[in-house]
Order: sequence, then C-alpha cells, then structure tokens
Amino acid sequence: MENLDVIVLGAGAAGLFCAIEAARRGRRVVVLDHAKAPGEKIRISGGGRCNFTNLQIAPERFLSQNPRFALSALRRYTQHDFIARVNAAGIAWHEKTLGQLFCDGSARQIVDMLLRDLAAAGGVLRLGVAPREIGHDGSFVVRTDDGGFRAPRLVVATGGKSIPKMGATGLGYRIAEQFGLRLVETRPGLVPLTFGPEVLEPLRPLAGISVPARVSCGKAGFQEGLLFTHRGLSGPSILQISSYWREGDSLRVNLAADRDVAADLAAIKASQGRIAVKTALARILPERLAQVVAERLALKGNLADQPKAAMAALTAAVTEWEVKPNGSEGYRTAEVTLGGVDTRDLDARTMEARAVPGLYFIGEVVDVTGWLGGYNFQWAWSSGWAAGQAV
Ligand code: FDA
Repeated sequence: MENLDVIVLGAGAAGLFCAIEAARRGRRVVVLDHAKAPGEKIRISGGGRCNFTNLQIAPERFLSQNPRFALSALRRYTQHDFIARVNAAGIAWHEKTLGQLFCDGSARQIVDMLLRDLAAAGGVLRLGVAPREIGHDGSFVVRTDDGGFRAPRLVVATGGKSIPKMGATGLGYRIAEQFGLRLVETRPGLVPLTFGPEVLEPLRPLAGISVPARVSCGKAGFQEGLLFTHRGLSGPSILQISSYWREGDSLRVNLAADRDVAADLAAIKASQGRIAVKTALARILPERLAQVVAERLALKGNLADQPKAAMAALTAAVTEWEVKPNGSEGYRTAEVTLGGVDTRDLDARTMEARAVPGLYFIGEVVDVTGWLGGYNFQWAWSSGWAAGQAV
C-alpha cells in the first residue's frame, strides 16, 4: 500500500493540471490512469493542434443545470492564466477564429508541458493502472492489480463517456454514485446529428458539401460552417447546436448566412430574369445544393416568372429550412458528455463533494459542458486548478 496526500484518478487535462498544482503546494501526489499514454484527448484535439482555450470565456457558454457553478473556478483561473503558462513554456500559438487559440505546432506540446511541470513539481504518474475498487475508511483506498494507494484526498478526473475507443469508461459516475452524489442524466454533446431515411434520401448527393450557416434550436443559435454528411449534418454549427438539441426538436437552418438572400435573388431576377430557378440559386448556394432546393420547391418557369409569393418561398427555402434530426452519432464521435456529477453536491470553489470531505470531482465528469472552441479545456484547467489549491 502506497501512502500519499492526494490520489488523482485520470491523467487527462483536468487530472494532470490538478496534480501539478497540488504537487507544487508540496503534496505527495500520484496520478493513476488505465491508459498507456497520458492526455490522449489533448493529443488528438483540435485536429492535432489542441484548441487549448478561448479568449471569449463566459459562463453562458457552458451548459449545466446550474450555469453559475462554473463561474468561481473560471474567474479564479482564467484563459489568460493558461495563456501565460503556454507562453512561459515557449509554445507558439495563434487565434484561428471566434477567440479560439491553437498551437502553431502540435497538441503534443501541451501534453509535454503538463508532464514536464508534473515531474518538476514531484508528482508521480502511473499509467496502465486500472482502479478495481475504491474504499473509504477515513482515508480513500484505491485497489488496483498493481497494488493499493491510500490518501486522505481523492480527485476524480476520469472524464466523460465520449470516444470509448480512447479509454472513456464512466468510472467517475460510478464513484459519484458509490458516495451518494446525485447525477444529472448524461448524453452526447458536440456531436454530428443524423436523419431518418426519408429525410436523408434526397440529401444523399450533398455529402461533403459545406456552407456558412446559421443553425437554431429553441433560443440557441450558432453561425458557423455546416457540413452535409452521409448520415446527416456536421460542421461546427451543428456540433454546437447538438448540445442544445433534444430528441423530437427541429432545427431551423439558414443555408447562406453570409448573404442577404432575398436581396440577392431580387437583384438576379432584375438583371438576368431569364435564367432557371436552379441556376439563380446556384449563384448563392453550391450547385448540388441549389439543385436539391430547387427540386424540393418544384417551381415552374424561370426566375422572371416567379410571383412575389414564390420568391418569398424561394428565399425561405434557403434561409429557413426546417429539418428534424432523428438522433446523433452518439458517444462514438461526440467530443464531450453533457450532464454528469450534479453541481449541487459540489463546492464551486474547491470542487469537493459537500457531503464527503476529501472527495473531489473535476473536468468533464462534472455537469459542466462548454461550447466548441477551447471552452472544455478551459473548464478542465480551471476546475483542476481550483481543486489543486484545495487538496
Ligand atoms: P479526459 O477524458 O481528458 O481524461 C480522462 C482520463 O481518465 C483519461 O486519460 C482516461 O484514460 C482516464 N480514465 C477513464 N476511465 C478510467 C478508468 N476506469 N481507470 C483509469 N483511468 C481512467 N476541447 C477543447 O476545449 N478543445 C479542443 O480542441 C477539443 N477537441 C476535442 C477533440 C476530440 C476528438 C474530443 C473527443 C474532444 C475534444 N475536446 C476539446 C474536449 C476535451 O478533450 C475534453 O473536454 C477534455 O479532455 C476533458 O478533460 P478531462 O481531464 O476531464 O477528461
């Protein structure tokens, strides 16, 4: 049995960051992970460049039953604090779009920075170690096939359920239940949406086409790229809206969000009214999409023949397409897991379970989920930092 001050379960973004902070405060820390390599999601994130934070961090860009819960940690350890850390490590970065910061080089640089900082602070990383059983006799006891670990403080940073192929297990939720914490129902977030056969069939020729779209669902709306896929829709606007979408909801889609479609169609009608509706639409939309939209409307004659009502219907077909997904691609491709450990049972300042002193939950396992664009890593750094000061 190894005796320590802090055991951290999960060597992902949140766990490593928490362990560094705790070790810097002189705590004897071990990080346990069943994977062969640490920070695997960091390594593959942002297309291999890691979108490590966002300049526009704000509480309303996080989903949770209690959106104010994340505020304390996000304010105490901000995106600027993490940027300073990245700068100090000599990692070059750039803003891509919408405040999203990426490494110029490789996501590997962020993993290496974390591992260097952990080692320098004296924290120990144990890979290929799967917790079999968690006991509690005043201290926490983690039993594994490689022996036992005992500490008065246990930090659960095992992430969510997304991408099981990369080691996601849902262990954190089981530990929460074991110690009597409530769970908010989990579901895949930041995930491509799928269509049933009747919706998909006419859209099949569009797979691979992307457009600058505005996608809305209820009060939420995002203006970013949209991609037609073989199964439905993807692209940043769809991933964003997927976190707000519930089964049975329809989406409203503007397929040409960067244009004034009514004005553009009127101008084409005035100057070149003799062209076919399909051809006019192809001045606004990619050609194959223009064809599908024109076929769906089945308007007779060329553009000049269209009365006011038909012109309005044409505009609406582009700017107010209403479509109902039948599901999502699920945890197999979801970037995050919505829901998780109920924030009512955690202290927002320290991430400690209110009813179980010494037990902490950080990162994705908690019911805090950010938008696409670096928000989820910032939550991992901020919540990891907050727990790291407290353990
Ligand atoms: P994370 O999942 O990172 O780490 C959990 C760790 O626990 C893993 O190392 C796992 O092996 C370990 N573990 C799980 N079960 C265990 C068990 N039973 N025993 C032992 N260990 C166990 N976010 C962002 O802000 N910017 C981005 O660019 C991206 N890009 C991106 C791409 C892809 C493809 C995905 C899937 C996700 C993203 N994300 C993202 C989301 C981001 O990766 C995610 O929010 C954080 O990694 C969450 O950090 P955690 O440390 O909480 O969990």
